[in-house]
Formats: sequence, C-alpha cells, structure tokens
Amino acid sequence: MSALALLGGRPVLDRELDESAWPLVEDADVEAVVATLRSGRLSWLDDTEVPALEREWASYVGTSQCMALNSGTAALHAAVAAAGVGPGDEVLVPALSFLASATSVLHHQAIPVFVDVDPGTFTIDPHDMEARITPRTRAVVVVHLHGLPADVDRVAEVARRHDLVVIEDAAQAHGAEIDGRRVGSLGDIGAFSIMAGKNLPTAGEGGLLTTDRPELRDRAEMLKMFGERATTSGPREYHALTLGWNYRLSSVLAAFTRSQLLRLDRHISTVRENADHLSTILADLPGLSPPVEPAGYHHVYHHYRLRVDPHEAGVDLPVGTFRRAIQDAVTAEGVPLIEYQNRPLPGQVLFQRREGYGRGCPWTCGHTDRDVTYEPEDYPRTLDVIRSSLLVGRRLCMASLLRRENAERVGAAFTKVFSHLDEVRDHAVTLDYQDPWLEETRLW
Ligand SMILES: Cc1ncc(COP(=O)(O)O)c(C=O)c1O
Repeated sequence: MSALALLGGRPVLDRELDESAWPLVEDADVEAVVATLRSGRLSWLDDTEVPALEREWASYVGTSQCMALNSGTAALHAAVAAAGVGPGDEVLVPALSFLASATSVLHHQAIPVFVDVDPGTFTIDPHDMEARITPRTRAVVVVHLHGLPADVDRVAEVARRHDLVVIEDAAQAHGAEIDGRRVGSLGDIGAFSIMAGKNLPTAGEGGLLTTDRPELRDRAEMLKMFGERATTSGPREYHALTLGWNYRLSSVLAAFTRSQLLRLDRHISTVRENADHLSTILADLPGLSPPVEPAGYHHVYHHYRLRVDPHEAGVDLPVGTFRRAIQDAVTAEGVPLIEYQNRPLPGQVLFQRREGYGRGCPWTCGHTDRDVTYEPEDYPRTLDVIRSSLLVGRRLCMASLLRRENAERVGAAFTKVFSHLDEVRDHAVTLDYQDPWLEETRLW
C-alpha cells in the first residue's frame, strides 16, 4: 500500500470527500416557498403552513400535539417552562451535548446539573442520572445525541420514581426510533431543531415541540406568544397571562420544511444503509469502534462518531495523542474528521464562572441553598469519549453519508492509515497534545 499522505504519499482521495450542499433544495421546495409568498398569507393570523406542519409532524412523531417555534433552543426553553421548572429548580442534562441542552434551562432561571454519559452510546447514563437527583430536581433533558435514541425507557422509569418531567432533546434525531416508537413521543415533551443543518431542515432557523399532553402544549404556546392565550378565532385580547417571548416560526420556513419532510424517510434509509456499510468496513480494524446501535434502536446518523483505542490497535500511546495522530493522517488522505463539543458542558466558561443573568442568578439568587458547582473531572466517561472519538465529515450534518462512495472512501482512508500504525506512532510523538478542556481559554 502507498505511503501515508501525511508523509508525502498519494492520498486515498484525489479530491476531498464529496459533501453535498445541505439542505438539498429541489424544485418542489422552491415551489412550496414561492406558493406561500404568492398566497399573501405571511402573518401568523392567516397562515396555513405552520398549522399544517404542526399536524404533519405530530402525525409523523406519533403525538397528539405539535407546536412550531423559531429555533430548537426556543423549543427546549418552551419545554422547560411548560414542565413547570422555575428559579432555583435543578434540571439534569448530559455533560456531552450541544450548549442549548443546558442553556435553555438557564433561560428559565433554573440550574443545570450535569450527568455522565454511557461510553458506548454517548447518551445519558440512567444510573448516574439517579445518583445526581436531589430534592430540588424537577426535570431531565434526555439528548438523542447524533441521532441515536437515548435509553428513554430507563430514564423514564427513574423519572417516575422521583416525579421528574422527561424532556427529549431530539434536535439531532428526527425519525430515530426505539422498537418502532419515534423520538419526540417517548418522554413527556420533545424538542426538535429544524435549523438548516439538521436532518429535517428549514431554510434557516426553526424548531418543533411535541407532546401528548395538551396542558403542556398550552403552557408552551403562551410562552411562544408574548404570554397571551393563542387564538385565531375572535378578536385578539392583547392580554399577557404570563411571561412570554416571541418564538413564532414564519409560514415560508414552514412551507420549506413541509416539502423536505416528504423526503425525510428516504434520506434516513440511505444514510442508514451507508453508515452500516462503513461500520462493517471499520469493524475489521482493531482499535476502531464504529457507532453502536442497540437492538430495536433506529440510529439516524446525524453525525457518525467513531472511537479509537490505542491498546486494541497495539500502539503504546495515550489515547488523546493517538486520536489526534489518526485525525491528522486520515484528514491528509482527504477525509476530514472533526471534533464536536470538545469541551464538556460543565467545562465551558459559562459554567466555570457561573455567569448566567449576573449577580449570581440563577445559582445564588436566593431560590436555593444548594451550591451547584461544575468540575469536568466529575464526568470521567464524557471526558473519555471526547478524548477518544472523532466525527466523520467537515460539516455537522448528514450530507457526508448520503453518498455510498463517501462511505467507501472513508473506509478506504481508515484502512490505509491503520495499515501504517508505526508511522502514525512516529507522527504522534511529535505532537504537543493537551486535552481541549485543559487548554487556556482566550477571553475577549
Ligand atoms: C442537541 C441539540 N440541542 C439543541 C440544539 C439547538 O437547536 P437550534 O440551533 O435550532 O436552536 C441543537 C442544535 O445544534 C442541538 O444539536
């Protein structure tokens, strides 16, 4: 086999991985948007697109209720508020996730308490979750990270015993399932992002909230609409019954997503086939672990995260250094590999400084006497996952695995690099590796 591209050899790929633009915009999407513009129904008062998207998404997910909002973060915030969480309450959140899983809790003056993740699935560990419950805990945010459903049934069982509301953060997992039940219908309330990079995209920013409990939807609806009771029949009262925001989605964006929804299942099944094919190739390489998919689970591969293990590969190196060297070598072959959220949530400056609304709020505002502090070392399995794993692709979206040839190419690049592990080790010892969360943070 030829020399590593890292050392001047010929790359496996003569051009970079072909990552199509995402979202894929077809004529039907353009026509749906133009028809909405031409309809003149651009205000929520006479819009028919948002209500239609809400009906269609509720039916797809399998819930009685759906409400569209203008971001996934807004959907999470509305879910936290609808769950009855308030100042000083604690909400459990996995330490490995996107920022909004935790900041949406802060938005409602509540306190995130982080939970370690399962090292195989990268999702919340129900056992650790139970250990972090206190008398102030009100809810848990379960994140279906990268498109694999978290073990919601075990989480819900713990939640029931402690009277907690289960909020699903399904921003990365449209269409993912456990035993035929779709995410967004597995907990009390679900929050999806339809930001343009997501598996179900809009042409910009948007979100969807799902639930089977009409009273939760009604509370969320008021938060979305200035605190008013939403009604399209009868005169508007301009009467705030509670604190609210303006989180409405535009009709044009809803029309685009409705059109994309018609292709979601096709995209998911293509990505699943290609991801399975790639996993079969990678599973043959000692020291490389493809993503897991427990029996009955349906992963939708918003991201494809794989783990490396130097001991299994027979290389005597610390895992972080080995991971970085593999990243360099595979990227040189033409397959970009990225790190995602390589600082665990509790290690972010926001939590280190506990800088929310200022003046100690929500942590020391007088609504709680418990001092919640954040140490990344309290989440050893999260740190281990970050240290040892990489995501395929340059961009955080499903585009890289929509093409079969990309799966083949990624497989070929790893196969080549893993047949040159002596050179990879020589490269690794030249690296000055430090865990990302220990690196000095530059503050404006
Ligand atoms: C897990 C997770 N939760 C929440 C969000 C927030 O969604 P949005 O960007 O639509 O606000 C994202 C977006 O990337 C996400 O990945």
